[in-house]
Amino acid sequence: MQIGIIGAGNIGGNLTRRLTALGHDVSVANSRGPHTLTALAEETGATPVTVEEAPRGAEIVVITIPLKAVPDLPSGLLDEAADGVAVIDTGNYYPRERDGRIAAIEDDGLTESRWTERQIGHPVVKAFNGTYAQDILERPLPAGDPDRMALPVAGDDEPAKRKVRDLIDALGFDTVDAGGIDDSWRQQPDTPVYGLRGGTEAVTKALSAASPERTPGFSG
Ligand SMILES: NC(=O)c1ccc[n+]([C@@H]2O[C@H](COP(=O)([O-])OP(=O)(O)OC[C@H]3O[C@@H](n4cnc5c(N)ncnc54)[C@H](OP(=O)(O)O)[C@@H]3O)[C@@H](O)[C@H]2O)c1
Repeated sequence: MQIGIIGAGNIGGNLTRRLTALGHDVSVANSRGPHTLTALAEETGATPVTVEEAPRGAEIVVITIPLKAVPDLPSGLLDEAADGVAVIDTGNYYPRERDGRIAAIEDDGLTESRWTERQIGHPVVKAFNGTYAQDILERPLPAGDPDRMALPVAGDDEPAKRKVRDLIDALGFDTVDAGGIDDSWRQQPDTPVYGLRGGTEAVTKALSAASPERTPGFSG
């Protein structure tokens, strides 16, 4: 598959490593430009591109940049992506140490991914947001292994969500359907599932134990 990754940090870098290893055709972008991505490109065989180029022709686009940078993404970002493109949002809102206060999230009660969706003008599938970046490299296991980790996946576009769940399965993890984007507060920072290294049953339980109250540590 052709996959565009916007963000080449902890998560974007490791997804680039694993997805190229699976044989996908990966284009990767960061904020400073493709010339700063030559080491990652040499290591993985991914193509370094600009942010505008990353989604071109892609069946899956991953947006994995700090939340505060999402409004800086170019308008019409997904216009040249493949029909039915699935956009994965790995983002989390860290108002205190990184992103600053975002009123639409805190006052209007938008989930973090609903806010991101509105910024980019395209539906997203929320995945990997509670997964330690190292685990993408170090913890994949074959389907059926009793220790296989499960990741929650939320999204309103069912075919896109299916595509993302299949990709995560190929990466070596089970998935749990965490509902639509309005339900995705269940997997935001400081919920029981956030950072949980568990299987399907534990993740399902943790999602249902979540509270919609934003905790003080994650309020701006
Ligand atoms: N770290 C984790 O374990 C983890 C786990 C789950 C979810 N997350 C979430 O996933 C997102 C990414 O986290 P991360 O730890 O991978 O971040 P990171 O290591 O700080 O990397 C951020 C990447 O985004 C790029 N970037 C920043 N602004 C951009 C822009 N306007 N256009 C294009 N690229 C831009 C940066 O490029 P430059 O370097 O060129 O500026 C960098 O490649 C965050 O929302 C984070 O909360 C992180």
